[in-house]
Amino acid sequence: MTELAATFQYEAVAEAYRFRPPYPDEVFDRLVGLITDEPRRVLDIGAGEGAIARPLAPRVEWVDAIDFSQHMVDAGRRRTGGDQPNLRWQVSPIEKADLDGPYALVTAGASIHWMPWEETFARIVPHLTPNAQLVVIEHGAVDEPWLDELLPILERHSRKKTHDPSFNVADAIRERGLLELTGTTRTARVAYRQSVADYIEKLHSTSSLARELMTADEATSFDRSVEQTLSPYAQDGVLDLSIEAQLSWGRPTQPPGPAGTAAPEHSA
Ligand SMILES: C[S@@+](CC[C@H](N)C(=O)[O-])C[C@H]1O[C@@H](n2cnc3c(N)ncnc32)[C@H](O)[C@@H]1O
Repeated sequence: MTELAATFQYEAVAEAYRFRPPYPDEVFDRLVGLITDEPRRVLDIGAGEGAIARPLAPRVEWVDAIDFSQHMVDAGRRRTGGDQPNLRWQVSPIEKADLDGPYALVTAGASIHWMPWEETFARIVPHLTPNAQLVVIEHGAVDEPWLDELLPILERHSRKKTHDPSFNVADAIRERGLLELTGTTRTARVAYRQSVADYIEKLHSTSSLARELMTADEATSFDRSVEQTLSPYAQDGVLDLSIEAQLSWGRPTQPPGPAGTAAPEHSA
């Protein structure tokens, strides 16, 4: 586990997760539409506190939500829909998870870039139905008018010093020979309103800006700088955001050689 991936083990990061905007409803329509086999069982890898698993569970037969962070899973169990009878949580690295397929769909929301791909695919592919798809899902705010002013603050405090904005994780997995990529789409944008204070907490849910990685003074200074930057854009302390998700999917394949090559580091 890299140092940044380890930040998901922190309680405050799991707690800050509730400030991330939800995935647009269209994501779940698309996911359900990609299931063609029976049984309609889903494997959610790097499930976190269930932003994908919890809303998906009522629409499928079963969801296995796997995450190696106990705090994330505990937060997910407590959140709305976290106790559905067809949603099974498991605290484990996906590459060693106890799987109970066959699964007709594998979902990876902002998670697969953290995983050792060969080991992960070697673990999951034997548990899939013949037409099962793996879907890589990312989402976030787009066209934020304050971004140019915010970026230098994020860069100053981020624990991740290299960032390649052109990196596309689904393409990288395809190039590794592990995914026959067949589709990609963006959802329609969805309006979302969030207070400046909650937006700042959302930033602390990212691995590179976790509160546990900052001293109390640094966290205070970070919060103040972000607050000063965003306040002019807020109305009564509330920001108007536009949320978009991107989905890429295809048929995962069994790695040919020995397992264990780590994915390139990339934080979310
Ligand atoms: C950015 S969060 C995304 C959580 C959730 N899927 C979502 O969309 O909100 C990434 C999650 O992947 C988990 N994770 C990273 N590597 C993992 C691994 N090898 N096995 C299981 N979980 C892992 C982390 O603990 C974290 O909860």
